Amino acid sequence: MSDNTPLLDIKGLTVQYPSPAGWLTVVDNVSFSVGRNDIVCVVGESGSGKSVTTQAAVGLVQPKGGRVTAGSVMFDGQELIGASNRTLNRIRGDSIGFIFQEPMSSLNPAYTVGEQIAEVVRRHRGASRADAWKQAVAALDRVHIASAATRAHAYPHQFSGGMRQRVMIAMAIACGPKLLIADEPTTALDVTIQARILEVLKELQRELGMSVLFITHDLGVVAEIARSVVVMYGAQVVESAPADQLFAAPRHPYTAGLLEAMPQVALERGHDPIAIPGTVAQAHAWPKGCRFNPRCVHRQDGPCTGEPVPLVPDGGGLVRCARAGEWQQGVAAR
Ligand SMILES: Nc1ncnc2c1ncn2[C@@H]1O[C@H](COP(=O)(O)OP(=O)(O)OP(=O)(O)O)[C@@H](O)[C@H]1O
Ligand SMILES: [Mg+2]
Repeated sequence: MSDNTPLLDIKGLTVQYPSPAGWLTVVDNVSFSVGRNDIVCVVGESGSGKSVTTQAAVGLVQPKGGRVTAGSVMFDGQELIGASNRTLNRIRGDSIGFIFQEPMSSLNPAYTVGEQIAEVVRRHRGASRADAWKQAVAALDRVHIASAATRAHAYPHQFSGGMRQRVMIAMAIACGPKLLIADEPTTALDVTIQARILEVLKELQRELGMSVLFITHDLGVVAEIARSVVVMYGAQVVESAPADQLFAAPRHPYTAGLLEAMPQVALERGHDPIAIPGTVAQAHAWPKGCRFNPRCVHRQDGPCTGEPVPLVPDGGGLVRCARAGEWQQGVAAR
């Protein structure tokens, strides 16, 4: 297999969860890919379907009552949708590492961090106790936990929030994954600690030659780390593009709105951050046409409020906007 194939290729992924009103589609025909040695960020407001997309990709929605109704997820040449639990269990934690937002919920307070990381290595790699412990210490060292050999004997509560997040990263990379999925790993941390964690992730990506799929609602974080960006709104991808292009010339008004809401961008443009008006579209009542249309200052009755808007190639990326390439002229004229 050629190395030009993406490491992770999600196509047409559709996920539903039950609700009193019936099954709701919370991930709707989502497609994007993560290349080798790539860092891709998925960004969007709360409830847009970011977490469910990645959880579905690795078989984690069925146990929570959800169902994947369509789509394909190829990981390193292997189809994960419909794969057996045995296969998925083998892949998760081994060739795909995970970091979640709440480190305490994934760490067991009763065991030292070294024991917990070593256990993952033993389970996936069949390493001896001594080897697994060595690899656990090496992993803690890689994420720059000082005196790793000593600190491996400490319990999770003996670490600060930022250090615990490093422990989580160490656990996720201990088996040398090809892909690291990080779901809002820095959201609960303050800005300076967040910046250091992002540095650690970038360094690991380079040194281990792995790919990173990073989920966040914070475009400031995206600017720090992403090579390419997938913007989700209302369970759909509304724009995807290389990061520099997305920041320089957003093609979807939602992306433009997220940028205007960023303090850094607002400061550069000499205004206060401007929040996107209105509230996020909900799965039980998607607006007709473009799901963002009720909040969009560039909405035009007809093209934006009639037929569903397709995701189409545009510039170097993809955009789902009936007025892509047209609404910017209105902005320039203002
Ligand atoms: N276990 C579940 N049962 C029912 N509905 C769920 C479940 N998990 C997620 N959902 C619904 O799916 C939709 C998408 O949720 P998801 O967690 O993917 O959003 P998100 O983009 O990750 O948001 P956030 O930024 O808040 O993490 C939401 O409407 C949510 O209520
Ligand atoms: Mg989420």
